[in-house]
Amino acid sequence: MKKPENHIFVIFGGRGDLAKRKIVPALYSLFVQDLLPERYAVLATGRSKVTDVAYQDEVKAAVDSFSEEKDKSRIKDFADTFRYIDLDPSINEAFSQLPTALASIRSLLGISGNTLFYFSVPPDLYTKISDHLALNGLNNESDGWKRMIIEKPYGHDFESATALNSKLLEKWGENQIYRIDHYLGKETVQNILVTRFSNGIFEPLWNRNYVHHVEITSAESLGVERRGAYYEGAGALRDMVQNHLLSLTGFVAMEPPSSLDSTPIRNEILKVFQSLRPIQTEDVQRVAIRGQYTGAHVRGEWIRGYREEEHVDPSSITETFAALKFYIDNWRWGGVPFYIRTGKRLPTRVTEAVIYFKQTPHTTFSQNSESGGYNQLIIRIQPDEGILLKFGMKVPGTGFNVRNVNMDFHYSDFASERIPMAYERLLYDCMNGDNTLYTRSDEVLAAWRFLDPVIKTWYNNHDIPVYGYPAGTWGPEKADELIEEPELTWRYTCKNLADDGVYCEL
Ligand SMILES: NC(=O)c1ccc[n+]([C@@H]2O[C@H](COP(=O)([O-])OP(=O)(O)OC[C@H]3O[C@@H](n4cnc5c(N)ncnc54)[C@H](OP(=O)(O)O)[C@@H]3O)[C@@H](O)[C@H]2O)c1
Repeated sequence: MKKPENHIFVIFGGRGDLAKRKIVPALYSLFVQDLLPERYAVLATGRSKVTDVAYQDEVKAAVDSFSEEKDKSRIKDFADTFRYIDLDPSINEAFSQLPTALASIRSLLGISGNTLFYFSVPPDLYTKISDHLALNGLNNESDGWKRMIIEKPYGHDFESATALNSKLLEKWGENQIYRIDHYLGKETVQNILVTRFSNGIFEPLWNRNYVHHVEITSAESLGVERRGAYYEGAGALRDMVQNHLLSLTGFVAMEPPSSLDSTPIRNEILKVFQSLRPIQTEDVQRVAIRGQYTGAHVRGEWIRGYREEEHVDPSSITETFAALKFYIDNWRWGGVPFYIRTGKRLPTRVTEAVIYFKQTPHTTFSQNSESGGYNQLIIRIQPDEGILLKFGMKVPGTGFNVRNVNMDFHYSDFASERIPMAYERLLYDCMNGDNTLYTRSDEVLAAWRFLDPVIKTWYNNHDIPVYGYPAGTWGPEKADELIEEPELTWRYTCKNLADDGVYCEL
């Protein structure tokens, strides 16, 4: 793999949670693999006054705590590449020091003006920082490329995302803006393309003729932790569905791209989003279920409910669980329902996409399986990344009894290969100017446009219930009703214990 061009990597919010837990450890992984530029520096910023040396100590501590690299022997060399300046990103005047600080690092390193700005700050600062950078000439590419990485959330509905987009594009080019969705950096998400388009056995079946329905679940066992204030303004739909789950849908449902270049892949994902059947306001209650976890004992420990969490309104209607049923109105998927759900305080942490294939036209044998004879291809995104195929086999003995068995591939079987962390892959790509795994503005806006009726209806119509579900369960039972066939339900539910031991712990 090639080394990126020499540049300075600037982190706004360098002392924040994301910087310490994800960005710095990802940079360290690239460092130990010798995948950072020949000559580079990281310039972190924050409002407090901290010396370079004190900040370098924070970098060492962050790598020590959060890096999954076994080799920690190079932490000091790595930390030495960091500089720190105090700068309040909400104040334009504070940016006047930035061109000088960058110029002095560049002259020290003998490098050109290539600069990557990572906006690891609360979202209300995105347009301020982009404006302040531009006012100080730091969007100008005459002396080298300038790129920005923007974190989620990218707006909080269609209107605000459109406004944010227009504002950024006033001073920056689309090719300079990297909107991060860290799910796209996961190996297993990229592997969806390889599974589909490099295997003769799957792609011929990957359409309405053979697929009965598609389920995507992303469950978290944690609650909102210390992020109650942020989550109150977001909720599961904005926090998980608009970005990660719709991105996964795009990878599962897209047409084969003409090449693996950025534009063809992003064009195909956009087409999926543009084909999502709009959800009518009057249908929201029927096809979109929201829930909120309530206090319960989980594995012997009392877990408080969402409304009892810190910085959460005791009468909050913010959803910690969302489930949707929708259709993709195109030639490939016409009539195939897609079910997606996500939630906090569910029994375990798991993200997977499940393709349910149609049953055989006639059932000759007696079926004895939890899925009524629907073969399933399960793409496990996390944890224990891999692919599982479930199909019917004869139960030994008299008669012809059929039971689902598993053909299971675990990514960890690539024993000699290390699975890169999502941020590591994405940072490396951005440094190399590859935006394939970043979200283009038209994709983000199409995703918001699709969800907007649900968001507006949920927040404006308080008659639509927010179903409570005890912490440690698979969400409100009402969500099970989205799947209408009596013999089918979500792969994991409280009623339907999945065969790999993930069940309600109450
Ligand atoms: N943390 C995560 O796991 C995670 C996951 C996905 C996306 N994100 C997104 O990534 C971004 C950063 O997340 P984070 O959790 O690191 O956020 P954070 O810790 O709340 O904030 C990051 C830094 O921003 C600066 N900041 C905060 N409020 C400010 C204000 N009013 N004016 C100026 N500076 C301010 C602070 O730096 P100083 O106090 O040093 O000035 C803070 O350390 C957010 O947009 C978040 O939505 C975070």
